[in-house]
Amino acid sequence: MNDLTPDRDDRTAKLKGIGCARKRVEDARFTQGKGNYVDDIKMPGMLFGDFVRSPYAHARVKSIDTSAAMALDGVVAVLTAKDLEPLGLHWMPTLAGDKQMVLADGKVLFQGQEVAFVVARDRYVAADAVELVDVEYEELPVITDPFEALNSDTVLREDLAPGADGAHGPRRHPNHIFLWEQGDKSTTEEVIASADVVAEEMIYYHRTHPCPLETCGCVASMDKVNGKLTLYGTFQAPHVVRTVASLLSGIDEHNIRVVSPDIGGGFGNKVGVYPGYVCSIVATIVTGLPVKWVEDRMENLMATAFARDYWMKGKIAATKEGKITGLWCHVTADHGAFDACADPTKFPAGFFHICTGSYDIPVAYVGVDGVYTNKAPGGVAYRCSFRVTEAAYFIERMIEILAIELGMDAAELRRINFIRADQFPYHSALGWEYDSGDYHTAWDKALEAVDYAGLRAEQAERIEAFKRGETRKLIGIGLTHFTEIVGAGPVKNCDILGMGMFDSCEIRIHPTGSAIARLGTISQGQGHATTFAQILATEIGIPADKITVEEGDTDTAPYGLGTYGSRSTPVAGAATALAGRKIRAKAQMIAAYLLEVHDDDVEFDIDRFAVKGAPERFKTMAEIAYAAYHQAIPGVEPGLEAVSYYDPPNMTYPFGAYICVMEIDVDTGETQIRQFYALDDCGTRINPMVIEGQVHGGLTEALAIAMGQEIAYDEMGNVKTGTLMDFFIPTAWETPHYTTDHTETPSPHHPIGAKGVGESPNVGGVPAFSNAVHDALRPFGLRQSHMPHDHWRIWRAAHDLGL
Ligand code: CDP
Repeated sequence: MNDLTPDRDDRTAKLKGIGCARKRVEDARFTQGKGNYVDDIKMPGMLFGDFVRSPYAHARVKSIDTSAAMALDGVVAVLTAKDLEPLGLHWMPTLAGDKQMVLADGKVLFQGQEVAFVVARDRYVAADAVELVDVEYEELPVITDPFEALNSDTVLREDLAPGADGAHGPRRHPNHIFLWEQGDKSTTEEVIASADVVAEEMIYYHRTHPCPLETCGCVASMDKVNGKLTLYGTFQAPHVVRTVASLLSGIDEHNIRVVSPDIGGGFGNKVGVYPGYVCSIVATIVTGLPVKWVEDRMENLMATAFARDYWMKGKIAATKEGKITGLWCHVTADHGAFDACADPTKFPAGFFHICTGSYDIPVAYVGVDGVYTNKAPGGVAYRCSFRVTEAAYFIERMIEILAIELGMDAAELRRINFIRADQFPYHSALGWEYDSGDYHTAWDKALEAVDYAGLRAEQAERIEAFKRGETRKLIGIGLTHFTEIVGAGPVKNCDILGMGMFDSCEIRIHPTGSAIARLGTISQGQGHATTFAQILATEIGIPADKITVEEGDTDTAPYGLGTYGSRSTPVAGAATALAGRKIRAKAQMIAAYLLEVHDDDVEFDIDRFAVKGAPERFKTMAEIAYAAYHQAIPGVEPGLEAVSYYDPPNMTYPFGAYICVMEIDVDTGETQIRQFYALDDCGTRINPMVIEGQVHGGLTEALAIAMGQEIAYDEMGNVKTGTLMDFFIPTAWETPHYTTDHTETPSPHHPIGAKGVGESPNVGGVPAFSNAVHDALRPFGLRQSHMPHDHWRIWRAAHDLGL
């Protein structure tokens, strides 16, 4: 008979499992400067790569003279497309089924494009040699406007046969990439034609950039003795990089090891394969020495994957009472020089068709035209699921504009159109099955928390005072209710380059009752080592503090599709719970043997298996683990390990209600965020403190995007915002105070009911900030203005309204 102290609450608390605000285990090393990032990796004899990049956005490359660079002491090689061509590596496939030049092959198509790769013994010598490479260019007409691209005689992609289909079907112009459609076009158009009220608007979500603090980079090292290529890099999907590297190089996949060490933020920027990786691999194979390539800030902003750049034309129809009857949308999507969007293969516009948002809209249509221009390629999910932030911005702006048309309060308009709790699982007009939600409860909680009626009264008083000339500051109340869609797979619908989007977890329990879990995902700051251990603690009854979580080494971790689009918790988190349950099933057999009862007569209880009806007779998980390795148990293999590969049956649909209260000075365009309330529902909450951190970070990135961050081009295709002097990164000074809150509506299909959360604040935050700006100026006639709402643009809008 065992001692029953400590009690069940003490035992649960000791585990630090699901629901515990456990401190992040990663932070001890990060806060002491003990992280290990790509640029920290140093290897004997290591060489350094640097790119010659195009100063022009569109030009023919007449000649490249590398002789002066090669003559510089310390330079080992200068690679051009001609050197890569015999290897078939001068072009590479993109994630979107297009192909992209690794090094300029005959022409350049955007400013900053990679033209030649210098390899030198010293990083500074490499930079000096870049200046000595003499490239002769012949300038060509530049197109930076996607609408102009579709009407221009200038053909950007001369490598593509003009009339040939693209990866996503027919192309109607040489600069056209695809038309992708979803929904019922004719019925939607009929509904709009006969509606009581129709709001129509062009909503532009400007081009921006994830701009992680650590730029992209890698160290490639070919061991010619054992034939093994090791690639360290800033990879959000290390296994995918291994497979792609094998397919491109012809090296057997078991001879490639990809390692993602600590990563200083990814936000989608580190999903794709960049020319720097390919050139570093070629250079290490040729020289037999390790080669490091780390881009600088300007290269990162100018040439690696951008985000957004969606021109969204919308029409939303409603009855006079405000019931929405239909939604129509056409997007002109500027993909830049190559279609390198990071979307699942079947979805060239990602999950944009979540654009019916939180609303019960009976009929809808979406068409997306992808277009080539002379801008950098990309189209990544910058802290959002694929194109979901564009969708949320679109519908949340359209709702505000419809409210203007109807002369109705925008909070009430949302309320009467929300999908009701009893409608879940809800089938949207554009083909999704929303898993769970309770939007009315969340909305009412949010409105009450900020005293919405009081705020509107204060706003009305302020408008009167403004009209009387007593103040020059207006108040805006930015409302948003968003629905995210995160957790790609399922495998049958979602793949990257043909690789199905499952994820995985492998667990080994050590004999003394501690454990290691390895996953196919990779944290870039999200705290996986903290939170995945918590899932396991609850599932297998071993304290989280005794569980090591390891990710990012393809030689040890099970195959997984990586971390982006908030897929870690919905997919790898589920794999972790299910691998834990496999451990538990075996532990049950061992416990029953040790307790000399039938398997069915023991039950799991927090950290042990106990005999049913006799809780004082139990074996702790530590005792069971010891027995698994040291005791012969008839019919049971020694050891305690499990692996689970999880193919999710559906995605998860987190949601939230955000309210931003902003003051705007019409004379300076300055803004002050007085209050920001963020209610998130991500289903079961694993770690409330980590969730709060994710929300704070995501909201600050949303603030950046809505209020200042932009990759802007001039008409020559020059990047005007290629440094952090011009590209807005908020510091603590600009960051407002956030009030966070939650409701908890578990996902019915996820093993622990959890949905993703990391990206929700970006998806919901951008429209909340933008709607606040619009709401402040709406009483004076503002209907729609383009982001980012920097001081100049706000001043300009106020000035144009005669304020
Ligand atoms: O894929 P990614 O890690 O970027 O996003 P996520 O799955 O939303 O998870 C971000 C962080 O929040 C992870 O550490 C999760 O474990 C944690 N999280 C949580 O504690 N509870 C949830 N319901 C969702 C995420």
